[in-house]
Amino acid sequence: MNKNLFELAKLKLAPQLPEIKPIVQGGMAIKISTAKLAASVANCGGLGIIAASGLTKEELQDQIRQARELQLNKKGLIGINIMYAASDFNMLVKTAMEEGIDVVIFGAGFSRDVFSMGEESNTPIIPIVSSAKLAKISRKLGATSVIVESGEAGGHLGTCENTDTLLVEVKQALDEEEAQDGRHVPIVAAGGAVNGFDIAKLFKLGAEGVQMGTRFVLSKECEVSAAFKQLYLSIKESDVITILSPVGLSARAILNDFSKKILDGAVEKPLSCERCLKKCSRAFCLMKSLKVAESGNVQDGLIFVGKNVCKIKEILSVEEIFEKIEKEFNLAFAESLC
Ligand SMILES: Cc1cc2nc3c(=O)[nH]c(=O)nc-3n(C[C@H](O)[C@H](O)[C@H](O)COP(=O)(O)O)c2cc1C
Repeated sequence: MNKNLFELAKLKLAPQLPEIKPIVQGGMAIKISTAKLAASVANCGGLGIIAASGLTKEELQDQIRQARELQLNKKGLIGINIMYAASDFNMLVKTAMEEGIDVVIFGAGFSRDVFSMGEESNTPIIPIVSSAKLAKISRKLGATSVIVESGEAGGHLGTCENTDTLLVEVKQALDEEEAQDGRHVPIVAAGGAVNGFDIAKLFKLGAEGVQMGTRFVLSKECEVSAAFKQLYLSIKESDVITILSPVGLSARAILNDFSKKILDGAVEKPLSCERCLKKCSRAFCLMKSLKVAESGNVQDGLIFVGKNVCKIKEILSVEEIFEKIEKEFNLAFAESLC
């Protein structure tokens, strides 16, 4: 009997895509998940994601081309992640499709039109949803898989439900639809998973893949500043908070000088605006605050983080992360079979 259940756990996100390992590296803007990280994840057999939000057309083209150059094998896939809330959403999706991207993932808002764009270019569109209702709508619009992101995730949040509860709700809803027309739509669960034990638990609840953001920030290949990674490693649970983002959603972030000002209502309003978001409260400049943090000024910028960051104790290479996940996943299933 093959005891390597992780090796058997294949994820097929769309009919036109090959099966991959069931790990999706979450898209992380701005410039946190770049070509280097995405290609490393793809080389290990997962889905590596370049964060497109906040990039220019040329920057995105360059990122996708770099990732393709760094792709050493055909084991995994490369995709982009883009916030629907971004003004440049359509342009960046179109650019990625022209570059031959394998997958487009979108969140922070919902678009019906993007599914027709995907159909025209034969590019799978994977929505990030936070409710059974939106998962069902996505399925009707042609989604071949969905990412179900809970309130435990890093970044913008569409719900405060935890991953287990939300996953069970969405699974039940999609199973009911499948019973009617026989079309299977795999679920990728996101929010709070940092190791193979977490992934095994989500598989038992019906996930066929898991998207992880925070774990991959603490990888050697993630190009964010060393100060950003050190802050991730040094904070305590009470430093993980939620703030209200100018896009109108809650967002999970680290308590630092900047987020303290947001909580206190003392954050400076932007003096100028590039209208990078379709709708913005202008409470502060989201893009600028993310860029400041990414560059290493970790007190004056906004730092997104997942709820379970404190469970991660070390920076590993992407390959080591995959090896560790595989061991833990197999152990979790071996223990539950005893
Ligand atoms: C630093 C950071 C930046 C993020 N940026 C984005 C983003 O640009 N777009 C998006 O859809 N999700 C974003 N996310 C969410 C991740 O893609 C992923 O779904 C989430 O982090 C999963 O939860 P985890 O961090 O507990 O693994 C971000 C998360 C983090 C930690």
